[in-house]
Amino acid sequence: MLPAQQARLAADIAELADHHGRCRSALLPILQGIQRDHHQISDFAMQEVARQLDIHPVEVYGVVTFYSFLNTGREGRMVVRLCRTISCDMQHKDRIARQLENDLGIKFGDTTSDGRFTLQWAHCLGMCDQGPALLVNDQVFTRVNCEQVHEILENCRKTFTASGHVLTTGHGHGTAKEAFAR
Ligand code: FES
Repeated sequence: MLPAQQARLAADIAELADHHGRCRSALLPILQGIQRDHHQISDFAMQEVARQLDIHPVEVYGVVTFYSFLNTGREGRMVVRLCRTISCDMQHKDRIARQLENDLGIKFGDTTSDGRFTLQWAHCLGMCDQGPALLVNDQVFTRVNCEQVHEILENCRKTFTASGHVLTTGHGHGTAKEAFAR
């Protein structure tokens, strides 16, 4: 990472720490903010968080590696997570998984070569009676079928500008007609 990028990241972390506080209870929201804004939590970010909160870097590393929503590797601008816990598993989540892999052209754990999509497994999303459940960034889609997977991804693609940035932001519980951005 270039010095200018490090300086920018350190400034962003300072801003998050100003907002959330410089105590241990602020650690998780600060890390979530870094993940949201930078799509990964790099080694430098972990060290900088530890320095600014005056805690040991190992503690920061432990939190980052514990939560599946925090990543040390760079993610795509849209992270698609499919629940693989038992209720969704019984609701044929494997079919949805195959459709996602085919449509995106990647396997779970991978990011598309254009950096737009990352495909990941998720643990229970709290929608067990409405499976299979899918999360696109922060938006939940429930009772998803294969046709809807294609529609959801197409709507996501429409939100990218020519430069690959995300154009629009939506909120709330998802339907196949909504897509949302980070
Ligand atoms: S098991 Fe999938 S949402 Fe709970």
